[in-house]
Amino acid sequence: MFCVQACLLALGLLALAGADSTGTTEVDIVFPRNDTYELMPLMPVVFAVQNPAAVQHLYTTLEYLVWPEEGPYNGSFNELRIDMVTPNETTQFLSEGIPNLLNTEGKWGFSWRLRSTNCSTSDDGTAYNDDHMTEDYDGFHRRTSWSYQYFRFTTAKGGRQPNLTAITTGEDCGKTQGIAFDVKQNLEVPFALTGNGPSSCALLASPAPTPSPCRASVVPSIASSISARITQAECYAATPAVSCPPKKDGAAVNSPGIQAALLAGPAWILYNVLF
Ligand SMILES: *[C@@H]1O[C@H](CO)[C@@H](O)[C@H](O)[C@H]1NC(C)=O
Ligand SMILES: *[C@@H]1O[C@H](CO)[C@@H](O)[C@H](O)[C@H]1NC(C)=O
Ligand SMILES: *[C@@H]1O[C@H](CO)[C@@H](O)[C@H](O)[C@H]1NC(C)=O
Ligand SMILES: *[C@@H]1O[C@H](CO)[C@@H](O)[C@H](O)[C@H]1NC(C)=O
Ligand SMILES: *[C@@H]1O[C@H](CO)[C@@H](O)[C@H](O)[C@H]1NC(C)=O
Repeated sequence: MFCVQACLLALGLLALAGADSTGTTEVDIVFPRNDTYELMPLMPVVFAVQNPAAVQHLYTTLEYLVWPEEGPYNGSFNELRIDMVTPNETTQFLSEGIPNLLNTEGKWGFSWRLRSTNCSTSDDGTAYNDDHMTEDYDGFHRRTSWSYQYFRFTTAKGGRQPNLTAITTGEDCGKTQGIAFDVKQNLEVPFALTGNGPSSCALLASPAPTPSPCRASVVPSIASSISARITQAECYAATPAVSCPPKKDGAAVNSPGIQAALLAGPAWILYNVLF
């Protein structure tokens, strides 16, 4: 019976470790969505990562592309660093601004793609798959795939405001795209296959869970910080698409005073862009 305390502790630690990096994880497009929006000099692109601790072992890459539907499909995909999200249990948001594109009326295509892996081990522990020499080792198998998503949106005068809180908490919160995974366990990657990559890889349950984008609600404080971050980044541009605090010289935006003004400054800095 002396096991009781130690075993409970061990079980507790196991439960903690498990809660960290298994279970359902999901990537959702928060903004834009298939809707009609007011013209935006600096359009926010926002993704949510639910249970980011579990997304870590999926070797994910997240990219998106916006293009005018009538025009040529000649842009290139932008990467958002999903591999850098804080690996805790709180939903994290990835965001970026697109300047000087969505400030005219039009119809737009939005494509996004998410790369992920699924690892497994063979029952007999020996099977190699000759088709994937660099992804199989001694009964361990790693498979990579891309999920592609696409939707359209419109910009028009009088369209909806890009209020992140309103769109993620209202009754339409679920009207967006998400890709969900169910991480059953994390397998240790054989040394021969790790390279510079992660040493742990997810084993995914099939079928994948149904996404629940309404769980990725953006509370007002997060909406403000996303807006501030996007504005601040844009204010480093030579000719920013939004109003910025005056630059005293080329590097002024780096000075602590300007940083503070951007972060804590008057509401116009924040609301000019997003709301
Ligand atoms: C795409 O094509 C349009 C029209 O030809 C051009 O104005 C634009 O600069 C091109 N964009 C890129 C990224 O090449
Ligand atoms: C998750 O990360 C955020 C951002 O770094 C942090 O503010 C928050 O306290 C963390 N939450 C937990 C449960 O660790
Ligand atoms: C966008 O929404 C409209 C209206 O709900 C729907 O008819 C259309 O199929 C959707 N299109 C795309 C590509 O998302
Ligand atoms: C955004 O929407 C929320 C919830 O509907 C609302 O409380 C808030 O006032 C809106 N923000 C702005 C700046 O309009
Ligand atoms: C992941 O791989 C395992 C083992 O091959 C397989 O049973 C499972 O269906 C796969 N999961 C997904 C989501 O493809």
